[in-house]
Amino acid sequence: MSVFPPPHHRSVIITRLRSAGCVFAEDEAQLLISAARTPADLVAMVDRRAAGLPLEQVLGWAQFCGLRIAVDPGVFVPRRRTEFLVDQAAAPARQPAHPAEQAAAPARVAASPAGQALARPQTVVVDLCCGSGAVGAALVVALGAVELHAVDIAPAAVRCARRNLADAGGQVYDGDLYEPLPAALRGRVDVLVASTPYVPTEAIRLMPPEARTYESRVALDGGVDGLDVLRRVIAAAPSWLAPGGCLLVETSDHQAPQTVDAIARNGLIPRVASSDDLGATVVVGTRPDLPSGAVVAGVCGVGAARRSQGGVPAHRALGCGETRRGQS
Ligand SMILES: C[S@@+](CC[C@H](N)C(=O)[O-])C[C@H]1O[C@@H](n2cnc3c(N)ncnc32)[C@H](O)[C@@H]1O
Repeated sequence: MSVFPPPHHRSVIITRLRSAGCVFAEDEAQLLISAARTPADLVAMVDRRAAGLPLEQVLGWAQFCGLRIAVDPGVFVPRRRTEFLVDQAAAPARQPAHPAEQAAAPARVAASPAGQALARPQTVVVDLCCGSGAVGAALVVALGAVELHAVDIAPAAVRCARRNLADAGGQVYDGDLYEPLPAALRGRVDVLVASTPYVPTEAIRLMPPEARTYESRVALDGGVDGLDVLRRVIAAAPSWLAPGGCLLVETSDHQAPQTVDAIARNGLIPRVASSDDLGATVVVGTRPDLPSGAVVAGVCGVGAARRSQGGVPAHRALGCGETRRGQS
């Protein structure tokens, strides 16, 4: 609902936001005006934004992959660049499967909203360090039938993710990385995504005040080189991935070589994908699903395990994502 301030008030709001350092003051003013329920509400929202609170936390939502994701105070605001992680994780699902693979793929039974049994393949997705749950929510939309499990260590993030993933039937766990996941998921995960904290501790003070002040330290701090949490994610990933399953992690460009190295040392097949447009780097690690000595570099993906279980030659398995630039 809009409280329609008179035009001169609108320009006052824009000026206030601009002098507080908001680069897109006009757009932000419009969003705040549209979201405010009363004039007093609008004043309070403009005050909070001018004080430095991230716009998304003031509005209570963020746009991510075309979805409106609820973002509570203190919860990490999903970034545009993380849409590339979703894009990479969902890429195989957008490619048409070979008819023989479709025939061979065993179906898992998913319950429809009406409780009716539908026989269709269901991809097992785990979103570690899920924050608001934005990545998992977008993957549900992109992949369709998904068994989704998400984990975060921050209680505010867990509450927020539960709200965002309720309609998708996603399970959200409170705890440290894999620790709260059901043991039955071991060896069954098709897509394991992790957008961990990866800012080196010393670099946090260089971040915009919005992030430094209003996002929790645990969401940002990746230790001395930024890779502390990521290394732990990678080390345990092989025992959770299904054969042919993929780990996809977001890193910075300069952290990619170390991430690739950690992935390879843990027995996964690494690949780097990046997007200049989004300033995003994703490193993919695939659990081989071939007999040793017959590894096809870069082959991974949703349903690869199913295809190989169904007797389809693994060299037909679809690639997990397109590389837009560079490939290791
Ligand atoms: C950079 S944010 C990413 C959030 C979300 N994936 C996104 O892209 O919007 C990192 C998240 O990891 C969580 N986190 C940090 N350490 C964790 C751990 N050991 N186990 C689980 N979650 C953790 C933080 O609470 C935070 O929500």
